[in-house]
Amino acid sequence: MLSERLIEALNEQINYEFYSSYTYLAMAAFAQSEDLDGFANFFRVQAQEELFHAMKFYDYVYQKNGDVTLEAIHKPQLKFENMIDVFERGYEHEQEVTRRIYNLADIANEEKEHSTISLLKWFIDEQVEEEDNFNKIIKKLRRAESNPAALYMLDDELAQRVYVAPATGASAQ
Ligand SMILES: [Fe+2]
Ligand SMILES: [Fe+2]
Repeated sequence: MLSERLIEALNEQINYEFYSSYTYLAMAAFAQSEDLDGFANFFRVQAQEELFHAMKFYDYVYQKNGDVTLEAIHKPQLKFENMIDVFERGYEHEQEVTRRIYNLADIANEEKEHSTISLLKWFIDEQVEEEDNFNKIIKKLRRAESNPAALYMLDDELAQRVYVAPATGASAQ
């Protein structure tokens, strides 16, 4: 059984994960409009990952006998200057997600809600990877800045990304 406060906070995070998915879908659309299919693929996969995160919280709330309340999803940013701008916004977005996950973990710790602490441990580890992914690509893009051929090489590399759903279940990581 979860406290009202924790259920509310988890619901807010479900909404934010859907917003994350929408944010990355908007980035995919921008890349597509620039004919950068590999970058578009990267963000479509990223958008799918965020849906998985939303559903992981969603399933958890019901497993703990809570209720999910879906709210409106904010409109994502649609216009960007270039791919560096896109990835910088993405990196900032992931840092904001990390801040929100830490805040949730603080509440769960305060309430000594150990199963929620355990769930959030998964997300804390996931965020390390998420931030690192964006930061690494920003560095590559900066190096490629004056070299269009390098941008297309990176586009080819990102075309290879495939969505793999993590295993599900009570003990799934
Ligand atoms: Fe996420
Ligand atoms: Fe993310």
